[in-house]
Amino acid sequence: MDLNLHLPTSKKELEELMEKAKDWALMHGMCMKSKQNFNKNVLQFAPFILVPSPFPRKEFENACTMQTTLNILIHRVAQDYNFLKETLEETIKVDNFTKELFDICTTVHKEGGSAQKISLCVLRSDLMLDTTCPKEDMNKKCIPYCCWKQVEINTIASGFGWLGPVSTELHKFVLEELGCYEKIKNLPENNALQIICSSMIEAWKMYGNQEAVILFVVEDITYNICDQRFHEFEIRKQNPNVKVIRRNLTQLAASAKLGLKKELIVDDYIVSVVYYRCGYEPGQYHTRKEWDVRLLIERSLAIKCPTIQYHLAGTKKVQQALAKPGVINKFLENEKICAEIKEIFTGKPFILTIHTPYYIMICCAELYALDFNEHGDAAIEMGIANPHHFVLKPQREGGCNNKYGLDIKHFLESMKHKQERVAWILMNKIHPPIHKSYMIRPESDMSMKLQELVSELGIFGVIIADENNVYVNKLSGHMLRTKLATANEGGVATGLGACDSPYLID
Ligand SMILES: Nc1ncnc2c1ncn2[C@@H]1O[C@H](COP(=O)(O)OP(=O)(O)O)[C@@H](O)[C@H]1O
Ligand SMILES: [Mg+2]
Repeated sequence: MDLNLHLPTSKKELEELMEKAKDWALMHGMCMKSKQNFNKNVLQFAPFILVPSPFPRKEFENACTMQTTLNILIHRVAQDYNFLKETLEETIKVDNFTKELFDICTTVHKEGGSAQKISLCVLRSDLMLDTTCPKEDMNKKCIPYCCWKQVEINTIASGFGWLGPVSTELHKFVLEELGCYEKIKNLPENNALQIICSSMIEAWKMYGNQEAVILFVVEDITYNICDQRFHEFEIRKQNPNVKVIRRNLTQLAASAKLGLKKELIVDDYIVSVVYYRCGYEPGQYHTRKEWDVRLLIERSLAIKCPTIQYHLAGTKKVQQALAKPGVINKFLENEKICAEIKEIFTGKPFILTIHTPYYIMICCAELYALDFNEHGDAAIEMGIANPHHFVLKPQREGGCNNKYGLDIKHFLESMKHKQERVAWILMNKIHPPIHKSYMIRPESDMSMKLQELVSELGIFGVIIADENNVYVNKLSGHMLRTKLATANEGGVATGLGACDSPYLID
């Protein structure tokens, strides 16, 4: 797709623009810490795409319109202990990590729930455009069409609340450098950082103790540090009275305790809001003590972002259960916001038509359970016969856990008769449109070569709610990650993706 961005034709000018963009990124905190040459005192720019990538305006707006409904959907799922139990029942028999999470959920459920009934969740719904959607043309013939499909919904540690908006700012600067002033209007506004932080401040206010702090639960080493510290700075900016403290799970295991009213006390601080930026990977729990403190926090009066139920509602297994016909409708049956949700699956013929602004569709790539029944057996055979049509996913977050291509075939052949297979789900592969652009990375010099790339859009949502009330329900900005078209995964922190922003096209 040619966006007509008047990119320099001479190598020298292009190099100059890239160097200037790199310095802009460094000097505006669009940065990370290096994994290869880690030094806690040194930042490098985060990999980025030189100019924004094309994204169809209608599909972008459609995804944004859906977000508040998705927030409600995930909230209802998180409230439904029995649904989580039924859905994860087989998985937790073989997946110890999910079992640990679910055990915390059950313990707190049996105790009558957490001391805190209000929850906060920062969600990020990740989607890709799919070039294989069929659509009817004027002669009622099916033609291939580009629509978005959901990759996953993140409910814990949904990152890029800073790197998303700062990428838009970088691209505004680059477009100005190119003299494309009139094109800046095609970069949609992105207030992710402000809204995510204002929701944390809102939760802090609801807790009702001026002295209480917000706790960020962080990794032992945070490489994606700007994406956490800028949240901290933004909270101070919006309300100078709110203090943020950072602790990893091991530090919390040594220092966290409950007060008389189950207040969460860390060192001498009372904690109002717990914002998890870790805790979604088994490696982050070194011993039993880290699990114990997760349970302690869950029981406490602090408002959790997210609660353990929300965390479980974001598992791949729950996503697969939600994609079964009729399930989403059940959760949104009495939806006041007048949204009619239809599920659309790849592989099945359908007509994509949006009749009214209220007629919204969840476009989910088709997902298959690998349970021990005829459907599971059929899914296994399908994956073995056509591994390149699928992605195989375990119950993990954070990137680099999925299997692709022939690995799927070999893995399924070896797992076929083992109970462990039920911990995985099979998902139709989405085929995003390929565009060409320049990817600039700190560690390698591939920047001068035009690369074939694909993008993944993340839409943020925030929700503050308890069982009976929804206090805050907002769309809260977006982020775009772009990777080489040949790469399987596009995590920026994990090494293959790059920060980007959408350029809306009609
Ligand atoms: N159905 C799919 N089709 C194509 N690529 C996919 C699909 N599902 C996942 N991916 C790729 O794999 C990455 C990681 O998968 P994801 O489901 O988001 O797991 P994680 O929780 O590890 O982020 C995605 O960001 C995307 O690049
Ligand atoms: Mg993901």
